[in-house]
Amino acid sequence: MQRTVRLSLWLAVPLALFIPAISALAQSAGGAGAPPAGGPPGGNPLALTFKTPDPAHGKEISQSCQGCHGPGLVSKDEAVPGLAGQHSSYTRLQLAAFRAKLRPSEVMWKQAANLSDQDIADIAAYAGGLQPGPAWAVAGADTALRTKGEALFHMGDGPRNIIACAICHGADGRGDDRLGVASITNLAPRYGGEVLAEFKNTPEFGVPHPNAMRIMLRPMTDEDMKAVEVYISSMGK
Ligand code: HEC
Ligand code: HEC
Repeated sequence: MQRTVRLSLWLAVPLALFIPAISALAQSAGGAGAPPAGGPPGGNPLALTFKTPDPAHGKEISQSCQGCHGPGLVSKDEAVPGLAGQHSSYTRLQLAAFRAKLRPSEVMWKQAANLSDQDIADIAAYAGGLQPGPAWAVAGADTALRTKGEALFHMGDGPRNIIACAICHGADGRGDDRLGVASITNLAPRYGGEVLAEFKNTPEFGVPHPNAMRIMLRPMTDEDMKAVEVYISSMGK
């Protein structure tokens, strides 16, 4: 099948891109030897130290998050990502990045400021055990964009050096916890567009962190990004 050939051709690329991702994750999961957050200068503020996560505690302390992220952490707001069903490795990394003010968002800087490493691990474990939210509806004019987004998602565009999103995020958009690849199925649409623009336009963190998305989005136009935004928000349909 033509698609299989294309997939195997692209496989080497994500593997190479993941090497930094894997080393960053190995640091955070092991804890030993990793400097604590806010530790010595030159340490990686994204490396967390925690014991076996406690989802019940995560549930308790994430009550305050539901006003924005939605009841049961399923978002009802197009501009706010749902957290339900997101992989815990990805949620931990994002909360550590907000707390260290490496990822932009004044709203989330305040929310993450007082969370300990253990709180972050507990919330991430709780959220990761929930079912992802339902698909978002696609408005009339956007159905053509959705079709374009679907093709880019599953097949990429070889001549333009665009890698299929499915290679890393999976055909179902559920990503991979071990590799730190976010689940993006049914992602809140406006947030999806904003986060893609953020990956494309803001500098990288400057510490070990998966940069796959930044590299991957380089050849994509605004219209390509809008198309995949529409598609991933509605994937469950
Ligand atoms: C006042 C509203 C608000 C509250 C309260 C809030 N958040 Fe957020 N959160 C946001 C917004 C908006 C974003 C998107 C940030 C961006 O990228 O611009 C976000 C992003 C995130 C992300 C990144 C998700 C992703 O898919 O990348 C995580 C994780 C997160 N919040 C966790 C939490 C947790 C845990 C709490 C509670 C301790 C919380 N938030 C409370 C508004 C809020
Ligand atoms: C080479 C692997 C790779 C490819 C290809 C890839 N991604 Fe990603 N993606 C990642 C990784 C790794 C992350 C987590 C990045 C981080 O931790 O900051 C991610 C994160 C994301 C996020 C953020 C999710 C959130 O909740 O904020 C979105 C949205 C996303 N990808 C969409 C896409 C789309 C759309 C495509 C195809 C156009 C794509 N990705 C292709 C590896 C990839």
